Amino acid sequence: MNHFTSPTDSARNILIANDRGGYTIPTSGLYPYQWNWDSAVAALGFAEFDIDRAWTELETLFSGQWDDGMLPHILFHKPDPGYFPGPDVWGGTGPIASSGVTQPPLAATMARRIWEKDPATGEDRLRALFPAMLAWHQWFMRWRLDDQGAVCTTHPWEAGRDNAPDWDGAMAGIDASDVGEYQRRDTSHVNSADRPTKYDYDRYIKLVQIGREAGWDQQQLLEKNPFRVADPTMSFTALRAAHDLLAISKELGIRAEGLSADVDRLDAGAKSLWNETLGAFDARDAHTGQWAESVSNASYLCWYAGIESQQMLDRLKTVLTTVPHPIPSYDPTSPKFDERRYWRGPTWAFMNMLAGFGLKDMGHGVEAEALRLKTGRLIAGHGFAEYYDPITGSPAGGNSFTWTAAVWLHWAGRN
Ligand code: SER
Repeated sequence: MNHFTSPTDSARNILIANDRGGYTIPTSGLYPYQWNWDSAVAALGFAEFDIDRAWTELETLFSGQWDDGMLPHILFHKPDPGYFPGPDVWGGTGPIASSGVTQPPLAATMARRIWEKDPATGEDRLRALFPAMLAWHQWFMRWRLDDQGAVCTTHPWEAGRDNAPDWDGAMAGIDASDVGEYQRRDTSHVNSADRPTKYDYDRYIKLVQIGREAGWDQQQLLEKNPFRVADPTMSFTALRAAHDLLAISKELGIRAEGLSADVDRLDAGAKSLWNETLGAFDARDAHTGQWAESVSNASYLCWYAGIESQQMLDRLKTVLTTVPHPIPSYDPTSPKFDERRYWRGPTWAFMNMLAGFGLKDMGHGVEAEALRLKTGRLIAGHGFAEYYDPITGSPAGGNSFTWTAAVWLHWAGRN
């Protein structure tokens, strides 16, 4: 950031520079396409200065929805040879070239916030998007619940938290010896110490190959996919999205049968991720029932989903006072903590924002504000990075990052 541009101007400029015409890339080079949950956060940022563009972001995202309701995690609008794995590797079957997995469902929640900001402009756009958002929700209900109602992820990229320790157990059970040759591109854009290891990457690609061979048929993949983990991110975001869809349907008088029962089922499922021995919300392998024993930043999304937990609040208070730049994506007292490596330690501003929304909604205003101010100082002091070292605050991964700019505009940078 230079002396002549305020952080707010820089944040707007980042969104504008990353706009590719109706959709926003997370950052040029490393992520040159439209990513699902990044776009939902980007829309919130645009809503601070261009409400029409905010709705367009979500509309473009849903233009890639598959017939069965699945909303892909990447839409490959225009080819870019700088990214791997691209559309030829994924073989997605939707209306726009895409990946074959989804991502944590933030769109309905962000659409509701954008609508509340300007109900007059938003109502028609929201009504038009509602059936697509509902279809995505119903797709989760049909294909992604475990036997307790927790929402599973079927690929670490689908979880959005690629190399989180949450998946270590399930990843160890994947044989990737026949994955073949491939050329990673991520490590030519950013420092390889900030990125997943080759061991992880081989398994990511192997899972793509399994999905593609099955033609991304969910019924087949229930049997063939070795990776199926009930995940706090998926469970908390899907529950929150269902709450928001229900609220929208009531306020706009749209019939949405079954949503109330879905909320109850998802609520029970999310609560089933409480690991009593660990004393935290945790991930659970849906094939083996094994806990991951993982306190991640996703564990702190319980309030975002409307679930109270005194033990998580106590943990949060400790993290807020002992970690210089909270919330770390992994418990810093664990031997697996790795302060720069993506989802194994670094702090992610947008995850803080989601936790902050929940804390505020559930009456924990002091903690919500402390987290917001710390996130604002981190961004103002270290730039709009993809993520940050939670100990030193130094930026990691990509820079000029869309969702970090959006978090500044909507939440962390507000007076
Ligand atoms: N996060 C994955 C990547 O690094 C894909 O979503 O490409």
